[in-house]
Amino acid sequence: MMIAAPWPAGGQAAPDRNDSFQPEPARARELVTMVRQDCGSCHGLSLSGGLGPALLPKDLADKPFDSLVATVMQGRPGSAMPGWSRFMNEDEAQWIVRELVKGFPELPIAER
Ligand code: HEC
Repeated sequence: MMIAAPWPAGGQAAPDRNDSFQPEPARARELVTMVRQDCGSCHGLSLSGGLGPALLPKDLADKPFDSLVATVMQGRPGSAMPGWSRFMNEDEAQWIVRELVKGFPELPIAER
């Protein structure tokens, strides 16, 4: 019997990209607060850079999506960038990167 593997066996393939994922409104507010406050403490309150580089759409436009998501989840060894996988799942990290590339929501974000 053939069972379709979610990604090729062997090696460490990137997790599937899930562009349709949208956090529940309450969780979206938490994630936006986390990015604006915790990430903002290094990347600048307007995400235009500080200890960490700017995370505005123009800064991220040329960077590969998967590597940005991996940076958020795992951090960058040897730099101040910590990994956030204890605080969010892969879908949420992908959502944050998609929102950063579009222009991150301001606080407070409206009920949707
Ligand atoms: C303690 C400081 C610090 C915090 C907090 C922090 N970062 Fe970073 N971040 C950095 C530094 C420093 C780099 C650059 C790493 C390097 O030199 O490669 C970085 C790099 C990145 C990059 C890659 C940018 C690029 O141009 O390649 C992304 C994306 C990123 N951070 C997102 C986040 C997000 C999202 C959060 C919050 C969930 C966060 N960071 C919190 C310090 C921080």
